[in-house]
Amino acid sequence: MAAKIDVHIPLGVGEVARRSGVTVATVHFYEAKGLIHGQRSPGNQRRYHRDVLRRIAVIKVAQRAGIPLATIKAALEELPSGRPLTAKDWTQLSTRWRDMLNERINSLTQLRDQLDGCIGCGCLSLADCPLRNPGDRLGQEGDGAVLLGQ
Ligand code: FES
Repeated sequence: MAAKIDVHIPLGVGEVARRSGVTVATVHFYEAKGLIHGQRSPGNQRRYHRDVLRRIAVIKVAQRAGIPLATIKAALEELPSGRPLTAKDWTQLSTRWRDMLNERINSLTQLRDQLDGCIGCGCLSLADCPLRNPGDRLGQEGDGAVLLGQ
């Protein structure tokens, strides 16, 4: 028979790291960045509520998707505090991050296609190369020799 876990006993930093699959330094880093929160024990050791495990899982997945830590933090701060992350929270976060990922994929696909057109060219022209002049920025500044005097 498995030992019963008391969910009210806070976890030490080593236990959080082990159960989350991250290093102790990562746990400290997340806390320093305000992504997770702990308390000091009477013996002056960091202690974390078990909810932190789910929070770290969400952070790790978001990081894998390339979501910046500041964006992850902002999203987590929008959620009600004082309760564990729910499946509904995760659906909301992952849907938003999926949309961000799609935007990045579209942007990178466009960049790759433009790069395809540059391979073998080598002009690197501000006027003609889409990588040097994204979205025809110069064309929007008017007709003529807009680069004169630059
Ligand atoms: S290098 Fe010539 S179009 Fe980009």
